[in-house]
Parts: sequence; structure tokens; C-alpha cells
Amino acid sequence: MSSYASQADEIEQARQRIASAYDPRLLESAGHEMIDLLVSQLESCQQSVGNVLNWNSPGENVAEAARLLATGKNDGEEKSLSDRVRLLAETMLARGQNLQDPRYIGHQVPASVPLAGLFDAIGAVTNSVMAVYEMGPWATACEISLVEEIGKLIGYEEGAFSGFITHGGSLANLTALLTARNVALGESWKEGVSGTDPRPVIIAHGAAHYCIERSAGILGIGTDQCLKASLDDRGRIDVEKLEALIIEVQSKGHPIIAVCASACATPIGAFDPLHEIADLCEKYEVWMHVDAAHGGAACFSDRYRDLISGLERADSMICDAHKMMFVPALCAFVFYKNREHRFEAFQQNAPYLFDPSAPDIMEYDSGLKTIECTKRAAAFGLWGLWSAFGKELFADLVDVTFSMGQVFYEKLRAASDFQVLHKPECNIVVFRYLPEGLAERGADQIGEFQLRLRRKLIESGEFYIVPTSFEGVAALRCTVINPLTTPEHLDELMNALREQGRDLL
Ligand SMILES: Cc1ncc(COP(=O)(O)O)c(C=O)c1O
Repeated sequence: MSSYASQADEIEQARQRIASAYDPRLLESAGHEMIDLLVSQLESCQQSVGNVLNWNSPGENVAEAARLLATGKNDGEEKSLSDRVRLLAETMLARGQNLQDPRYIGHQVPASVPLAGLFDAIGAVTNSVMAVYEMGPWATACEISLVEEIGKLIGYEEGAFSGFITHGGSLANLTALLTARNVALGESWKEGVSGTDPRPVIIAHGAAHYCIERSAGILGIGTDQCLKASLDDRGRIDVEKLEALIIEVQSKGHPIIAVCASACATPIGAFDPLHEIADLCEKYEVWMHVDAAHGGAACFSDRYRDLISGLERADSMICDAHKMMFVPALCAFVFYKNREHRFEAFQQNAPYLFDPSAPDIMEYDSGLKTIECTKRAAAFGLWGLWSAFGKELFADLVDVTFSMGQVFYEKLRAASDFQVLHKPECNIVVFRYLPEGLAERGADQIGEFQLRLRRKLIESGEFYIVPTSFEGVAALRCTVINPLTTPEHLDELMNALREQGRDLL
């Protein structure tokens, strides 16, 4: 056979292998199988059968993942493709973190509403992406319809605001602050900021999420120029001290890129007084940005929306749907109060993407507003849930989980062997377990005990909670972000801590 003929033959065989990977019937059989597995996993998790966190050391997990990769389709025994697919799916489920278990009371990542994952799967299987409207016409429509509805719920004036979805709260804050920088410094997109003297600053909530300071680094402002606003005894920005700081900074000639408030701040879930901060920002003509990654969803709730009163006055704000809107990551919203700012973050010339012959359509090209060029259809999960259940579902999710913060607080306060460290405003609660014999010891020992206790608890698989530090001493932190977590689970958590703690003392 000529080398050309043998090459053609090889390509034909490759085509046949590819055809079997693309076979819709494979998706059908594997899809049914995976749904069955997911359903039984969900049932076990919801009934707390098995461990919350399937603990394996990182080395062990990496070795197993590498083993499955290396053995490829042939791991010693002859297996059909469907058996192999089943084994892989089972392994994925058996080795993960079970957020759907109501004993998962850990980071600000929710037990997402399961159906949202299926809407997302439509986007994944069809590889619906955005950047330009033509690539994701329906994804764009879903995103814009959500932006319009959520913007109105926040209280922005209809027709005046603008927004979009991006891949996560960190990127959302970065994009909004980039816009604020470009607005404040005029030509900084082209010229950079190194020549700006005196140096521009960002003023952030004293316990802002680290992504705000990281944004200052990325934007060329410099982390040293990210000034931390003092907090009051509830962990909120102290407005009097903020005013003094703004006056001091402006009197020295430093341009203020933005004041970044939090709604709420990560450590203890404290909500800043947004109206008072907005008054200051208006008075001193400073861009007001609010990181509402966690608390923005309070806009759905009649019970809790007062927490974010004043958010509608922010020049920009962000909110993660993959936190308190209970959809799978990543899906974060950025809003600008004034839609004129929507193209201010970036100035790109990309003739291979954006078509100047259809300027009306460019309004719908997400890539002009986001850091991403290709962007997954991140709206599908939320749009699907909202359209199927109505927005009342999101009010229920906020109401139930936020109310559990208060329930947990009361339980901890009533227990003499626990120390609750703040009065929660939402579903984030920080506390320590302080049994007799420990309370008298020094702060270092108390802190070290909390860390060892948590590790023992999570490795046991009984509960999942996270560590934090409060006033310089380690503590325990819970976010009730699985809406199936009940007061009884919280009693069980306290008992599990007592039990594990007894062995450690
Ligand atoms: C207040 C706040 N902002 C931003 C973030 C970062 O969001 P993401 O993890 O989506 O990047 C978090 C994460 O917990 C947060 O709590």
C-alpha cells in the first residue's frame, strides 16, 4: 500500500473512532446511567447516608486520577465502554465533597438546586458559548432577561442600568473596579497608571474579600494603595472614620478610584450601611462599588431586603448567583447604575469577532463588556430555575438559610461550652467550642484546638465546616447554605464537636 493510501486508511479509522465518541446513542445510554447514579447519590446525600466529605489525602486522589488516566479504556479487565463510563462516574461521585448533604455547613458555595445542573448540561453538551451574539443567541437572551429582572429587584432605575454575567465574584469585582479606574483616570486604559502622581487609591471595607486587594494589584493601583476602611463593633464600615479617610486622601491629592463596601463581608457576614456610604460618595464625588457577592440575593426576600437598602445607589455592584441563588458555579453578575459605563472597562479592536456593519447587534456582544472572550452560557441554570419555579423560589432559599443563622446563634448562646463570636445578620456564624478545661488556657491553645477539632471532624466525614480567625485567634465558621439543613442538624453538629473534642482534650 502506498504511504498516501495507508495514511488515508488511518484517517478513516480515526474517523470511525471519533464517530463512536460522537454517537448520540452513547449519550443516551450514558446519560440515563449517569442520571440514575446522580439521583441515588442525591437521595443518599439528602438522607445523610455516608460521609459529607469523602476524605482522601491529595496524594492518594491524584494517584487514583492518574491511574484511571493511564489505564485509559483498558484497566486490565475487558470492559465495555458503558461499564467504563459508569466506573468513571461512580469514582467521581465517590471521591467528592457532598454539598447536597445537609451536614455540609461550610464555605459560601451552595447545595445547588439539582435541576439547575441539567439546564447547565444543555449548555455544556451543545457547547453554547458567548462573546458575540451569533454564537450564543439564546444564552445572550437568557442572560439579558435575568440582568433586567435582578437589576429591577435591586432597585436600579428601569432603562438606566446595565449588567452582564461573568465567571465568578473575583472577576466581577475586578471588572467593575477596572471600569471605576477608567472612569476616574481617563486615559489609564491606554497609558497605564504608573505616571499618575499622587498615586490613585481604592478604599475598601477593612475585611473585604481578598479579591478586592488582588484587583488593586492587577489594575496597577498597587495593593499598598488599597486602603482599609475602619470597622465598627459589628464589623461594618465605620462611616465617620470613612469620611475622615476620604477627606485625608483627597486633601493629599490622591484620586480615589472607588469606595468598596460589602454586602456582606466574608468573615462574619456583616452588611455595610449602604445609604450612609452612598451619601459620602455623592458628597465627595467618589465611585461607590458594592461587593454583594453573598448578600445581593437578599433582593428577592421581603424579610431580608432591608439588609441591602441603598444598594440601588451604588455606581457598580456584583452578586454571585453561585452563592445565594443556589445555582452551580460559576455565575456572577456585574451591574452599573448608569448604562453609559457598560463599554468603559475595555477598548478592543477585533474585526474577526465584532461586526461593525451591525452596530445594533454589538449591544448584545458580551465580549465587549467582559474579560472573557469565549464565555460559557452561565445564565442557563438560573434562567431555567426562575422560569420553571418563579422567583419565589429564590426568596424561599434566602429566607430559610438566613433564618438558620439566627437559629444557630441562639443554640450556641444557650450552650455553656460554646462561644458565639457575633450576632449573625445572615447565614454566616463564627464561633468556638470551649469546653471546661480549655476556656482557661491561652488564646494560642484555644485557637490551635479549634483547628485540630475541625480537621478531625471533617476527616471523620460527619460534618463539613470551615476554619477562620476572629480577632487574631482561630475559630470555626459555618455558612448554612444547604436549604435542607435543619435545626436538628445544628444540634447534631454541636454534639459531634463535643464528641470529637473529648478525644482531643
Ligand atoms: C464577599 C465576597 N466577594 C467575592 C468573593 C469571591 O467570589 P468567587 O469565589 O466567585 O470568585 C467571595 C467568595 O466567597 C465573597 O465572599
